[in-house]
Formats: sequence, C-alpha cells, structure tokens
Amino acid sequence: MEDSFVNTLLTLYKVEKWKEILKLNENSDNLNALKLLWVWPEEKNFKFIKNLVKDLGYKGILSLGCGCGLLEWLINQSTGLPVLGYEINREWWESKYSSFKFIKLNYINQLNENSLDPNYALLFCYFNNKKSFQDYVNNYKGHLIFIIGPGCDVPRHTEPQPFSADFGTTDWHLYCYQEVKTTGDFIAAFIREEK
Ligand SMILES: C[S@@+](CC[C@H](N)C(=O)[O-])C[C@H]1O[C@@H](n2cnc3c(N)ncnc32)[C@H](O)[C@@H]1O
Repeated sequence: MEDSFVNTLLTLYKVEKWKEILKLNENSDNLNALKLLWVWPEEKNFKFIKNLVKDLGYKGILSLGCGCGLLEWLINQSTGLPVLGYEINREWWESKYSSFKFIKLNYINQLNENSLDPNYALLFCYFNNKKSFQDYVNNYKGHLIFIIGPGCDVPRHTEPQPFSADFGTTDWHLYCYQEVKTTGDFIAAFIREEK
C-alpha cells in the first residue's frame, strides 16, 4: 500500500478529521483506499444510517466483519452513534503483521447468543460468509440489519448481497436503501416482520 496515502489518512485520523478522510477517496477510485475499506461512503450515506437507527429506536450498531474498523470509526465520528466492531482471527489482528486498527476490535469468540444486543442494529459490509451471516441473524433478537455491498448489475461478489440476501428465514424485508455515490454499491436496511 502507498505509504503516503496511509500516512495522510493516519494524520487526519489522529486529529479526527473524518470529512477530510472521506475526501481522500471522494471519487471512490483510489486503489490504495480499497485496501483499507471496500466501500467509501459520502456524508449523506451516514445521515441515512443515522436517521434509520434513531427513527427505529436503536442505540447504535454492531458491525460483523469490520476489518480494520475504518468504516465503523467514520460512522461513529459522523453520527455520534456507538459502533462496535467484530472480527475473527484475533491472533492475526493482534499480531505485528496486522494493519492499523481504527477501533478496538472485538472477537467473535467473545460472542454468544446474548452478546448481539437487540437494542443495536447489525451491519454487514462486504461480509463473505453466508453460513456465519445466517448464524448471526439467527442469534439476533433485534429488528434492524444493514447490508452494504454491490447492487445487482455490479460484477463484484460478496455474501450477503444487498438485493439477494438469504437470511435463512422469510422474516426479513427490505425497508429502504441508498446508493453509495454512483459506485453501484448500496446500503440496504432490512427489518424483521415476525408473523
Ligand atoms: C471482505 S472483508 C470486509 C471488511 C470490511 N467490512 C470492509 O468493508 O472493508 C470481510 C471481513 O469479514 C471477516 N469475517 C469473516 N467471517 C467472519 C465471522 N464469522 N465473524 C466476523 N467476521 C468475519 C473477515 O476476517 C474480513 O475481515
């Protein structure tokens, strides 16, 4: 990764200039940026997330598969919402080879059925594991899940995808969505409607 990109980003991170950080990849065309975060939102995307979380009465967000936590830090900075990030492979993330972490990571072996606080929305951004996704959904008693990933016309793969997510149950319905700039990536909000 280009050292200068990371150095600039870290300098801005240390002084909490999140808007300046977004500008580093304003056109979502910087390949160095993609190594840290798959989707670079704009301010209106954060407002979209915040409004839904607040309007539906949630306290914050639990992000599964948060990677280095840059997205989670940006959401927290821009919205004021608490955002907790979860990862697998503690050994790697806590090793000297790990990339910089923008938030304190939590590890899924700390999770149990009661850990997915139903007062928080879940977030999956370019998550890549259908089985784990369905396990998380199964253990979650709340009613709001965000999925960020490619729209139908984009030749990028992830699991779950915003418009073809398989929750393993028919309780979940697409509530609303917003595109991230004109990238073909979308933020989709799903709500649970129990029968
Ligand atoms: C493609 S990366 C996306 C990272 C970040 N969300 C982003 O958008 O840049 C998928 C991440 O999910 C993590 N992951 C895979 N299975 C997981 C699981 N069962 N629970 C939590 N994280 C998981 C991986 O370690 C990886 O960091």
